[in-house]
Amino acid sequence: MSPKPPPRFRDHYADGAWYDAEYVHIGGDIPYYEQVACETDGPILELACGTGRLTFPMAATGVKVVGVDNSTAMLARAEAKRAALPPSGRARVEFRFGDMRKVRFKEEFAAVVLGFNTLMHMTDDDDLLATLETARVHLEEDGLFHVDLHTPLPEIALNRDPEGRYDPEEMIAPNGDRYIVTENNQYDARRQINRMWFYYQKVDRDGYDLGEEQATLLELRVLFPRELDLFFRMAGLEMVGDWDDLERSAPFSGGGGRRVIQARARPGWTGIVLP
Ligand SMILES: C[S@@+](CC[C@H](N)C(=O)[O-])C[C@H]1O[C@@H](n2cnc3c(N)ncnc32)[C@H](O)[C@@H]1O
Repeated sequence: MSPKPPPRFRDHYADGAWYDAEYVHIGGDIPYYEQVACETDGPILELACGTGRLTFPMAATGVKVVGVDNSTAMLARAEAKRAALPPSGRARVEFRFGDMRKVRFKEEFAAVVLGFNTLMHMTDDDDLLATLETARVHLEEDGLFHVDLHTPLPEIALNRDPEGRYDPEEMIAPNGDRYIVTENNQYDARRQINRMWFYYQKVDRDGYDLGEEQATLLELRVLFPRELDLFFRMAGLEMVGDWDDLERSAPFSGGGGRRVIQARARPGWTGIVLP
């Protein structure tokens, strides 16, 4: 048998419809963000909104949501979904192209949301700080910044066999083709960067491999608990809620694999990290 050709790489966010198909099984965070939306009169700023997976459920509670993202492909998909809404729904959702490290809008918001591990895309310290500052400067007085992300468990340090394919999931692509999606990762403990490969193997109805494999790569920063505490302080943000889960059932312990944070702009912030 001839050796398998290397996978063809493409950008993980190059196709919004593909993203929605790949993450169709993710939805456990939606009730939490609906609840967040119900707890405010809005408006909400959603950083890195992608295809609007969280934007639309939040807006459906009756608040205005502005979503910002730096992927035109993801925003095109979000805009197509927005166009399909009735006029009242359409009026509550707005998408803007922008980089969450840099955007500065005229408005202030009752809530700023950054969901689904996306803070971990900020692999560089300055980018991480800049993103947190973007959140702070857009909060109105008493406004809350909402973040959820992975928090590292000891297993993170276990690198996988580079040839291996792990955690298979079935995916039906937008054109109806069937894929098996698998993952692999290598963790750089010094840089705290988890390099995650996603492999898309096209298969027939019986699960037989149909040839060419595609792959995407995500580099995610692993944020240890006290490190993230410090970044929040450096950005002038004060945590007012910190939990292990999206149900907010247990205070953050660092042992649950997830971290759910609510923070407000630190009153009297002068730009100096307090001891
Ligand atoms: C994991 S997806 C999350 C999308 C959406 N929030 C969700 O929960 O489905 C990460 C998103 O972050 C966006 N993104 C990455 N870096 C960004 C940046 N610097 N500014 C704005 N968006 C960014 C990507 O384009 C992608 O849409």
